[in-house]
Amino acid sequence: MRIGLLTGGGDCPGLNGVIRAAVLQGARAHGDDFIGYLDGWRGPLEGLSQPLGVPDVEEILPLGGTILGASRTNAGRADRIDRIKAQLAADGVDALMPIGGEDTLGAAARLAGAGVRCVGVPKTIDNDLSGTDVTFGFTTAVEIATEAVDRLRTTSRSHHRALVVEVMGRHAGWIALHVGLATSAAAALIPEVEFSLPDVAARVGALVAARRDAVVVVAEGAVARAGAVEGDSGAPVDEFGHVQVGGIAGLLAGRLAELAGVETRSVVLGHVQRGGSPCAFDRVLTTRLGAAGVEALHRGQSGVMVALRGGAIETVSLAEATATLKTVPPQTLAAHAPLFAAA
Ligand code: F6P
Repeated sequence: MRIGLLTGGGDCPGLNGVIRAAVLQGARAHGDDFIGYLDGWRGPLEGLSQPLGVPDVEEILPLGGTILGASRTNAGRADRIDRIKAQLAADGVDALMPIGGEDTLGAAARLAGAGVRCVGVPKTIDNDLSGTDVTFGFTTAVEIATEAVDRLRTTSRSHHRALVVEVMGRHAGWIALHVGLATSAAAALIPEVEFSLPDVAARVGALVAARRDAVVVVAEGAVARAGAVEGDSGAPVDEFGHVQVGGIAGLLAGRLAELAGVETRSVVLGHVQRGGSPCAFDRVLTTRLGAAGVEALHRGQSGVMVALRGGAIETVSLAEATATLKTVPPQTLAAHAPLFAAA
């Protein structure tokens, strides 16, 4: 079988692990050959590709980013679906394995509906895809952010400061929640639950007085109740209509300094969370996913993604997985409230 691989959307630690495992499994267990499309959906749309053989992928498991490049090109439009089908036919591709988040897999579902044999692999550091227990890249991002907060904390404590750390998460607060819990933060502020600025300020002021520091982890998409912390406006929008967010940490730090009367600093972790080598958990997960994707194609499956569910790798319909974002249930945040730092 000739299989096309591509990595769409924002990059994510572990993409190379999926590519490697797919090629090793396909080539060694089935005699498949592979073509790597470059820069996400731009590859099949513009005929940008490279052959992928075992020697190309053997050493890439610990590498961050993606050897195929990524882009946020939207393939879901009808004219583009036709162009991609034509390119796949010209390249003699029998099946496609797109690796990506909600947008990439949404386009994969449309392609499968148009008759292309397609098995997706879910990725996003945000962990906001339905149908899977966790997405690869998330655990690495949480590890990186946790280590950063641990380091920031020693300097904050030395100076009796409050620290506001902004993590990724436009619509879902999984990273903020997990980093907040992992670092015993005063609060994790997430997009799913509007936060009360006076409550956060009171908590921060009391903690700095009692313990010499306080950490607030805020997701980039978090919103204050009644617009108490106004975010950016007029930010750029990508092909999927996603607004570029960010900057809430600085605004929040300023408001907390006023209200709590403490010295405050802010840090935006940004793309540091997406860069570099995947952690061991993500290396193993991506290895299992890449191999399982090839096996699903050989079973004749299409319109599905491979996913970690209860410890096993299973297949889930792409339509189901992309129907709704997996956000943090407000009751989950509430249930964890006693576990955050308080004076
Ligand atoms: O979708 C993953 C993500 O990392 C979001 O958390 C973040 O808002 C966005 O990508 C950043 O995108 P870009 O790389 O285009 O700046």
